[in-house]
Amino acid sequence: MIAFYMNIKTKQRFFPFKKKLSIKTTIVCVLMIISSSSFAQKLIRIETKDNLLLLGVDTNAILKQLYFGRIINDIGGFATSLEKSAEAYSTYGNDVEHTALRVTHSDGNLTTDLMFVSSNTTKQDDNISVTKIILKDKYYPDEVTLFYKTYFEQDIIEQWMTFSHKEKSPVTLYNFASASLNFQSPAYYLDYFYGDWANEFNLIETKLSEGTKTIDSKLGVRTDQRSNQSFLLSLNGKLQEDDGKVIAGTLAWPGNWQLQFNEDHYNNLYVTAGMNPFASEYILKADTTFTAPGFLFTYSDKGAGETTRNFHRWARKYGIADGYGERDVLLNNWEATYFDFDEEKLSSIIKQAGEMGFELFLLDDGWFANKYPRNDDHAGLGDWEVNHKKLPHGLSYLADICKQNNLKFGIWVEPEMVNPKSELYEKHSDWVITAAHRDLNLSRNQLILDITNPKVQDYVYDVLDKLMSENKGISYIKWDCNRYITNAGSFYLGNQQSKLFIDYPTALLNIIQRFRKKYPDVYMMVCSGGGGRMDYATMPYFQEYWPSDNTDALDRIKIQWGLEYFYPAVGLAAHVTPNHSDERITPLKFRFDVAMTGRLGLDYRVDKLNADEKTFAINAIATYKKIRNVVFYGDLYRLLSPYENNRAALMYVSENKDSALVFSFLQKKETYPDNSKLLLKGLDANAQYKLTEINKGSFSRLNDYEGKTFSGAFLMNVGLQFDMYNDYESAVIQLVKQQ
Ligand code: DGJ
Repeated sequence: MIAFYMNIKTKQRFFPFKKKLSIKTTIVCVLMIISSSSFAQKLIRIETKDNLLLLGVDTNAILKQLYFGRIINDIGGFATSLEKSAEAYSTYGNDVEHTALRVTHSDGNLTTDLMFVSSNTTKQDDNISVTKIILKDKYYPDEVTLFYKTYFEQDIIEQWMTFSHKEKSPVTLYNFASASLNFQSPAYYLDYFYGDWANEFNLIETKLSEGTKTIDSKLGVRTDQRSNQSFLLSLNGKLQEDDGKVIAGTLAWPGNWQLQFNEDHYNNLYVTAGMNPFASEYILKADTTFTAPGFLFTYSDKGAGETTRNFHRWARKYGIADGYGERDVLLNNWEATYFDFDEEKLSSIIKQAGEMGFELFLLDDGWFANKYPRNDDHAGLGDWEVNHKKLPHGLSYLADICKQNNLKFGIWVEPEMVNPKSELYEKHSDWVITAAHRDLNLSRNQLILDITNPKVQDYVYDVLDKLMSENKGISYIKWDCNRYITNAGSFYLGNQQSKLFIDYPTALLNIIQRFRKKYPDVYMMVCSGGGGRMDYATMPYFQEYWPSDNTDALDRIKIQWGLEYFYPAVGLAAHVTPNHSDERITPLKFRFDVAMTGRLGLDYRVDKLNADEKTFAINAIATYKKIRNVVFYGDLYRLLSPYENNRAALMYVSENKDSALVFSFLQKKETYPDNSKLLLKGLDANAQYKLTEINKGSFSRLNDYEGKTFSGAFLMNVGLQFDMYNDYESAVIQLVKQQ
């Protein structure tokens, strides 16, 4: 009580913008002081099947985080630590080091001091509950609401925050994290994903030390090009697959994001996750609500593997469109033809595709624009009418050819972009993102449309709407985005330029939602020149994601390994291509086997395959169709990491444990054969499984095991051991439970 009172007094004493308090405000303050002094401690349980996030309200009405870990039923003991525990959501003022919220109030005050008002939990259904905690500033009419949405079965918690106020004039938000979490552990290891275009999702591990480690993006759009807004935090030693205490978290937001890990001198760690405050101060009028995006997190004391399976199970149900739906084997013409195609060439490819068992043909970049035809990446973006020279009979005609060959038809778009060499730019040069008084900064010869402008939003929506309504037969869209923001600036935002990085992604999500409302059934792939836009605000509207423009199967092992820590195989578009990424030549089988760990597709001139290749491809596609449900909906178990071993191995086990697939890849030939033991995981120990090698090449290393039956206990404790020797050798093993 005394400390609290002193705070208020101190604030008034040093407050530079002195203002007389109104009688009403004084009464409110006095009431708050009285009520806070008499505040009874309160505990708030945020609970999932196995985990508990325990919050508490101390006698000063401050919301604290007491615990996050495995469920503890008897929480009486926490009363003793409540007063000295860290704030659950820290604001700049009393706290200066790890600010989740920083607001400059209408009178210039830089500080915020929140006290608990109320909390309630509502059940949305058998699995989902939302706990809403309302906090209010002790002086200003500002309200912060913290939301904790629990997905009980999947052990996922989603946290976010809203801010609103009733001050006389606008306030400015400088920091607006979705969540802050605190930990107390002797050491912390942080695993996250870094890289760049065509080299995404490299797994990086670092031991945290005192100070602040920040991972962020300032790219504006396709903000995951270099790093993904996901992390694993290991609390007792380096990250392990099946052991150790691990928190896995990811921010559901396609804009600039920031993850901060602040360790103090006493081994306390403060994690703050949210939109990146960089160049993004946000002026907020009274009675409007600022909503921070969801931060999703889970915990396991059994290592990273379980956190992955939690995320995958959650994603299939809630985080990705049609997570338990079907996915087609598709043929994409990008690496097959690039921009160089016409109706005749495509018809020949489509005909072959139909014969080979493909289910969908995806027409990539280059099909549009007439005044400035899209014959390379210098022109045409923005002019979304079909190019009459290449496709004189239009898109529906191609869709019909696909239909005649038992294929669905898909199309590529990049609706947020414009080439200066386009009719759109000639008409609306003020619709692009660029800073005043600066030269246009082109990347891939293109500019980004300023969708913070409602007129541009409508334009982008109309492009998609027209495409769908005027061209019958489109059942799939690949939504691309090939550059990020530089020279940030909006003609529309006037003197509130710093809203760009928040209003752009918000507008993007609005367009996507609007489109989805009218076209719920079209399948969509999110692509940003690779994995530049893979987040769980976007994925609920897209069935698939394009992980990387790097389609070299060897590189893809690591790229896919990294992204699968958070994103499930059911959406993972993995294509067999001629590999123009680095021209590495790898066996066709190896390329197929790597692609079969996700949603298999090809970018290939299938009409130019030789007889052997064609037979192999036809058989592989047929085999894949029989086993793909295990890949799509199974639980992922990582067996041998490509980061630590020459051999990489992973497996998928169907949720009912009836069948499993093991994938094993050798990265390079060494003096001696690799004889690593594969200790399988996730099987039913008491069941018998019959082993078959599938998608076989010209030889097999598994003759000793072929066709035999083994118990789950044997496979998990004794394991499989077979040589792999050649460069880029691979094997796919199917295990089927015997009744
Ligand atoms: C980048 C994508 O990642 C590629 O697959 C292809 O669609 C090109 N853009 C087309 O411009």
